Amino acid sequence: MELTAYRERFPILAETTYLINHSLGAMPAAAADRVAEYARVWATRGIRAWGEGWWTMPVTVGDQIGRIVGAPPGSTVMHQNVTVAEAIVLSCFRLEPPRNKIVLQEGDFPSVRYVYQAQAERGAEVVVVSDEEALLEAIDERTLLVPVSHVLFKSAEIQDVEAIVRRAHDVGAHVVLDAYQSAGTVPLDVTALEVDFAVGGSVKWLCGGPGAGWLYVRPDLADRLEPTLAGWQAHERPFAFAPEMEFAEGAARFLTGTPNVPALYAATPGYDLIEEIGVERIRANSIRQTELLIGLLDEAGFEVGSPRDPLRRGGTVTVLTPGFEGVHKELAERGILCDFRPEAGLRLGPHYFTTDEELAFAVEQIVEIVGSGAYERHLGAAARF
Ligand SMILES: Cc1ncc(COP(=O)(O)O)c(C=O)c1O
Repeated sequence: MELTAYRERFPILAETTYLINHSLGAMPAAAADRVAEYARVWATRGIRAWGEGWWTMPVTVGDQIGRIVGAPPGSTVMHQNVTVAEAIVLSCFRLEPPRNKIVLQEGDFPSVRYVYQAQAERGAEVVVVSDEEALLEAIDERTLLVPVSHVLFKSAEIQDVEAIVRRAHDVGAHVVLDAYQSAGTVPLDVTALEVDFAVGGSVKWLCGGPGAGWLYVRPDLADRLEPTLAGWQAHERPFAFAPEMEFAEGAARFLTGTPNVPALYAATPGYDLIEEIGVERIRANSIRQTELLIGLLDEAGFEVGSPRDPLRRGGTVTVLTPGFEGVHKELAERGILCDFRPEAGLRLGPHYFTTDEELAFAVEQIVEIVGSGAYERHLGAAARF
């Protein structure tokens, strides 16, 4: 099947040029059916639904994520978001010298930084470095955790995860990979990479919507860890309502309380499509289209910020234009959806269903908006999204 044939599965593509899949991936029409199915089950099965699949959804849906990111069954569980997943990882460790150092990069997602930076109050030495080279240098025998973004959210730069894992493991530190900006568009094999933990969500390239974050824990490590942020879903026998925690085996021990069932229903149609097409094929198309986009933006004389080397570039192209906040707003009024980030400029994120014609149209419109000054009327009225 041609990739463009998938367009009819995404209602919003009939109305807009949708170049914001790095932020909120387009909704597959099948997600609406799944949400209706959730309501039907709730209405007709009631309490019986827990035993008929709802209770185990964090694990069964996690296994589907596992197939996309190279994790074996039982090693990935669902959570509300990445922030919660990172906090659970953190809760497995004491923050005591001599191993209490956490090394981050300035380009990591702010919410992730907030979680780790707050640990300075609880005895951690938190070091935030400017780039990958500095990160490698900062990892030493005192390092406990190295949270690392697979693809940086602002620049779309792919990080050399192998080198970081090698360095971290050489000194006995654990790597927590944030794969939010890669899963579903850049091939990823958490087993081959030997990361200790990986986290991500469904809002972006997986087209699964909000409320379906995920956490992978290396299977040989999982049974040695006891998270202090854990709830009754992490218990070996949750319905015994025992007074003390007895951890379940595998990644289930990293669960908390009642799962986010409707979000897990809504998430899987996006995953189904990623599995059907295959991330390798999506990546080949993404490299071709981001190359095409960069060529068009170069020709128009704009400053492209994302890496030129396709091996170092994720699925997004960032470009600086005069008054990019206003350009973004004017594009939205013309039915072209993208976003912008401070300093980085516009972010354009095509996905497997985007056509080459849409990319040409978007660049043509940017040129017109900048040339005519149409963006100026929006400046000052800062848009939030
Ligand atoms: C790399 C990365 N990590 C994390 C997040 C979001 O984290 P959370 O799921 O906690 O909202 C984003 C974007 O929203 C992101 O781009």
